[in-house]
Amino acid sequence: MRRKLAAGNWKMHGTGADLAEIATLARTHADPACEVLICPPATLIERAAREVRGSALMIGAQDCHSAPEGAHTGDISPAMIRDAGAGHVILGHSERRQDHAETSALVRAKAMAALDAGLVTIICLGETLPDRESGATLDIIGQQLAGSTPDAARGENTVIAYEPVWAIGSGHVAHPDQIAEVHGFLRERLTHRFGTGVAAMIRLLYGGSVKPANAAGIFAIPDVDGALVGGASLRAESFSPIISALEQAAAGI
Ligand code: PGA
Repeated sequence: MRRKLAAGNWKMHGTGADLAEIATLARTHADPACEVLICPPATLIERAAREVRGSALMIGAQDCHSAPEGAHTGDISPAMIRDAGAGHVILGHSERRQDHAETSALVRAKAMAALDAGLVTIICLGETLPDRESGATLDIIGQQLAGSTPDAARGENTVIAYEPVWAIGSGHVAHPDQIAEVHGFLRERLTHRFGTGVAAMIRLLYGGSVKPANAAGIFAIPDVDGALVGGASLRAESFSPIISALEQAAAGI
């Protein structure tokens, strides 16, 4: 069985004053069937990791470099992320693909480095609105999946997040049929590449305007194992009901 995962992506939000949100979540959620992860900005990882010590809440990073160390001003390595107390890293988010011209090949190199360092990777994929309107969604998703995912991907070290670019931060959540189609396609492509046993264990998250009001509906879609949540993960009062909806989905309620 795939464990559910509710992952919060704080993006470039948050200072020390916001650690209280993480402390609240750590106190509130401890369902073994449902993992909860917060990926704060790199500056907060170490303090956040200290905040969640002794709880089930996990801390992750939002990006890493593909090299173990070196002359890369401003970058952080997978080993540094581990050292700061995080166990996960988001890779290939569409904002990084756009803002920093990250290619799937670079995302794959980063993922390989992250796996070498023992991090769990959350590899993000998603089509733009022009992609979808031109009927290219599955082609784009297929290319991004094949290009970004390393051969060493397994259920215990890799999570795939489907995040339509047009749904991120827009308030326009994808239609359940659209999510079901892409998640079914992802599972099929993973099965083709890695075999049924491995593919059945890789978790597929949906991301893009997940809110308390729409979370239960999204979690009822087949092959949705959780969510990658941006805006609504910044406050415990909005992330907590999303986590609760996932806990209920895990319990079959
Ligand atoms: P959003 O962001 O929930 O604010 O739409 C999701 C994401 O980019 O991971």
